Amino acid sequence: MEPFFWKPSYDTGLKQIDRDHHAILELANTLYNAINSDAGRAAVLQSCQKIVDFTEEHFSREEKYMEASDYSRIEEHKLEHARLKEEARRLLLRLELDSPGGATGLYHVLREMFIEHIPQCDQPFGEFYLSRTKEEQQG
Ligand SMILES: [Fe+2]
Ligand SMILES: [Fe+2]
Repeated sequence: MEPFFWKPSYDTGLKQIDRDHHAILELANTLYNAINSDAGRAAVLQSCQKIVDFTEEHFSREEKYMEASDYSRIEEHKLEHARLKEEARRLLLRLELDSPGGATGLYHVLREMFIEHIPQCDQPFGEFYLSRTKEEQQG
């Protein structure tokens, strides 16, 4: 397990989306620290709840951008969000029920978000959105 660092491949060019991703990265590091210190169960649980809530908020914000720009790949992107959301909720429940693996499972979902989802799904959307707004400005 290792902490998260920002990489250029995470940049989407969309300010609000990048801000959200930075905030998720910070929350992920808080979880990383809580797991790897003697912060205790309450701190781990609180950090996981924050991550799940904020990530869901972020997904709906991103989906609004996709709707507003008539993004052609919106359905597959939404499905990916739904899958990540379900996985994170399932792990949070596990943690709440005191079953093992909840917090580390969530850590791995976050890893997947940064290694796969953001560079492979969010980044192409950012490019699409920016080229679309440029076209509109040029009329
Ligand atoms: Fe996304
Ligand atoms: Fe995102």
